[in-house]
Amino acid sequence: MRTHLKHLKRATAVGAVALAAFSLQPGSASASAAPTPKPSDSHTKVVGGTKADQGEFPFMVRLSMGCGGALYTKNIVLTAAHCVDGSGPNTSITATAGVVDLEDSKAITAKSTEVLQAPGYDGKGKDWALIKLDKAIDLPTLKIAEDDKLNNGDFEIAGWGADKEGGDQQRYLLKATVPFVDDATCQKAYGDQLTPGDEICAGKLDTGGIDTCQGDSGGPMFRKDDAGEWLQVGIVSWGEGCARPGKPGVYSEVSTFAKDIKAGADKLGG
Ligand code: ARG
Repeated sequence: MRTHLKHLKRATAVGAVALAAFSLQPGSASASAAPTPKPSDSHTKVVGGTKADQGEFPFMVRLSMGCGGALYTKNIVLTAAHCVDGSGPNTSITATAGVVDLEDSKAITAKSTEVLQAPGYDGKGKDWALIKLDKAIDLPTLKIAEDDKLNNGDFEIAGWGADKEGGDQQRYLLKATVPFVDDATCQKAYGDQLTPGDEICAGKLDTGGIDTCQGDSGGPMFRKDDAGEWLQVGIVSWGEGCARPGKPGVYSEVSTFAKDIKAGADKLGG
């Protein structure tokens, strides 16, 4: 895969694996109004997707370090642990919401005030974090799965990340549908790199071609619940390359962390 050294602005603990094909690193935020790009091993968005309609996924958030996220409450964004540097006060992140076009003048932006990275996060599993915003964003939030009942079927993915391995970050939100891949099958692809209790896989195993990619990290993977409402089952985490046959996307298993996420949000006062 290609590396773009000019974007390797910071060396973080996670950055140490940024050159691996299965890097957790988010994409650069070049297509957003983002002031603080994060390092990236490659610029890759949703692969094999199509443009989302304005308002279709109103909970989608673009984060200035080059990640995605979803509104968990009106003033808390759920994203990936590898998208943030740790826990504590943080005023460096800008969240952009309410638009599919990041350059739309109707975009709603908010700044971070505090970050909560999953307790015990060490780069393997537990890839979730919460970002508290300085104001409430008046848009629909995304419910999270509290049990594993709907951890199956077809899932929606969306993001402003790369549209192919090594591709550019996107100005317009892209979306795609990917089928669930069970743990045993996913473990065949990834062996010990996978943390099955913490992670849920999805992708077109036989053909590849549809996947999240660099810069989509932290964004939600979701489906309809029995009431026909969107329910978040995953958080974009990692994969070997993007959309490769036999190499599904790996997502944090939201149901595993639902209680922790709730407790974290309470702690942040959201
Ligand atoms: N770690 C990437 C990011 O930071 C997400 C990669 C997802 N890869 C995949 N093949 N599904 O944006």
